Amino acid sequence: MQYIVTGGAGYIGGHLVDRLVSEGHEVIVLDDHSAGTYSHQGSRFVKVNLIDSAAVEKLALPAKATIVHLAADPNVRSSMDNVVDHFNRDVTATLNTLELSRRIGAKSFIFTSTSVVYGDAKKMPTPETYKLNPISNYGLFKMMCEELVEYYARNYGIKSTVLRLANITGGRATHGIVPDFIEKLRKDPKSLEILGDGNQRKSYVYITDLIEAISLAIRKSTATYRVLNVGNVDYISVNEMADIICGEAGLKPERVYRNEFGGRGWRGDVKVMLLDTRRIQRLGWKPSVSSRDAVRRAARDLLDAGK
Ligand SMILES: NC(=O)c1ccc[n+]([C@@H]2O[C@H](COP(=O)([O-])OP(=O)(O)OC[C@H]3O[C@@H](n4cnc5c(N)ncnc54)[C@H](O)[C@@H]3O)[C@@H](O)[C@H]2O)c1
Repeated sequence: MQYIVTGGAGYIGGHLVDRLVSEGHEVIVLDDHSAGTYSHQGSRFVKVNLIDSAAVEKLALPAKATIVHLAADPNVRSSMDNVVDHFNRDVTATLNTLELSRRIGAKSFIFTSTSVVYGDAKKMPTPETYKLNPISNYGLFKMMCEELVEYYARNYGIKSTVLRLANITGGRATHGIVPDFIEKLRKDPKSLEILGDGNQRKSYVYITDLIEAISLAIRKSTATYRVLNVGNVDYISVNEMADIICGEAGLKPERVYRNEFGGRGWRGDVKVMLLDTRRIQRLGWKPSVSSRDAVRRAARDLLDAGK
């Protein structure tokens, strides 16, 4: 099969490309290298900024390929300040990728949204039917992308799946709390800065479990439009993550809390996140490791890689 993976040089994209190439598929990566630079020799790389509609229109790509659209800027914190750039990387890039899917008659379209579209949900675990009420620009823009994906699915008949991802971690992670803590401990093993009160509690999925979920979503993309939460059955606090990561690093640093946003780590940070994943479980996916083990494995992966 033929796959187009936008953002395929990034963290999740790199792991997905590894998997698709190992299964013998033809994979074309579209990425502008703004954040990721991973490459797999078995894939074809095309450097393109998906915000540039004229450049996207000129791309010669195989008809009827499956498109997995991952390219975005996933940083909640920076979305609160770099608003226009985030809008373009999230929404404009998604519109241009949907136009590409219309032009080539894509077999199916997989879009990675995020749990942060729910905002401060009152219902835990939060089901896909819960009202979307984002509290960050990143969440708002992903919600707008979901609307675009649904509109294209229903009006142009592109079979589409939206995956609302919990926090993803594991080897080669470049962003998120696990690599952040490890980097801070490398710089100063005696102290660890924690953003917020440390009681923020969220669900973590190990990267290989996520790749299984994306793979399943591709195989099951028969519905016109479907939304699936992808998360773990449990969640873990930032303080517990610090215990695990410091334990794996063999360190006992003093913890220094920078609590400037009422317990949140930064403006727009959702404090508690746990997704109801019964819908994707009914399709045949469940995580193989808990949030705690996902964090522990990720810490080991990154420490072993000397990152
Ligand atoms: N990592 C997580 O925990 C997580 C959680 C929820 C949702 N997501 C979503 O999953 C997707 C992948 O996330 P990731 O963690 O791999 O991020 P990443 O930053 O590692 O990868 C994103 C890739 O997109 C590329 N890119 C960005 N803007 C582009 C543009 N305009 N044109 C072409 N390429 C562009 C970057 O160079 C990068 O390689 C994103 O859509 C993100 O919102 C990630």
